[in-house]
Amino acid sequence: MTIKRGRFITVEGGEGAGKSSNLAFIRDLLEQSGIEVVFTREPGGTALGEDIRDLLLGHKHTGMASDTELLLMFAARAEHLARLIMPALNEGKWVLCDRFTDASYAYQGGGRGIDINRIKQLEDWVQKGMVPDLTLLLDLPVQTGLDRAGQRSEPDRFEVEQNAFFERVRATYLQLAEQNPSRFRIIDAAVPLPQVQEQIEIVVRPFIQAQSKADE
Ligand code: TMP
Repeated sequence: MTIKRGRFITVEGGEGAGKSSNLAFIRDLLEQSGIEVVFTREPGGTALGEDIRDLLLGHKHTGMASDTELLLMFAARAEHLARLIMPALNEGKWVLCDRFTDASYAYQGGGRGIDINRIKQLEDWVQKGMVPDLTLLLDLPVQTGLDRAGQRSEPDRFEVEQNAFFERVRATYLQLAEQNPSRFRIIDAAVPLPQVQEQIEIVVRPFIQAQSKADE
């Protein structure tokens, strides 16, 4: 019997979009359908990737150059793909990832102003054409998200940015969704959690069904 490649689902969103609870919800939906899920995150997901995450999110290197930041994101991603994501997909497992390359376009491209063609070059190099099968964008107005996130602990190196930075991040995510309509689904994350989860179910259940059919 040949093993069918697993599917790669990513979840994106700005600060305070409720990624954690919604990722747990998606994971449950997949597992209830009998799918073996590898749950991971970026930057991170491997031992080396998590060390790079500490460098990126911590306050030790506050003045890090934007190119360094971008290259570290892709260094962590190369490790993640080689050691965790590709092996899991090749074993037929599904991978659910908290952020992926769309975040590099949104934060380093939109937020920091790096030319998207340079990000594309790194994407082509590191991913060799591999892209997620489905991306859920948890979208909400910047201020609503910041008000929610503000209630949490010590801000990381990204969370200390100004509103204008997050407005550019949001605009870039929405642009990416518009440019890649077959991969992206926009979820309105400004509404109460049960209504966010209703929207997620409407996207994820038919996706699972369609993939099972395709694998028959
Ligand atoms: P979070 O996923 O816990 O929200 O934190 C990760 C932070 O890293 C978040 O502020 C977004 C940022 N990030 C980038 O700037 N570029 C990337 O490519 C990724 C994956 C994350």
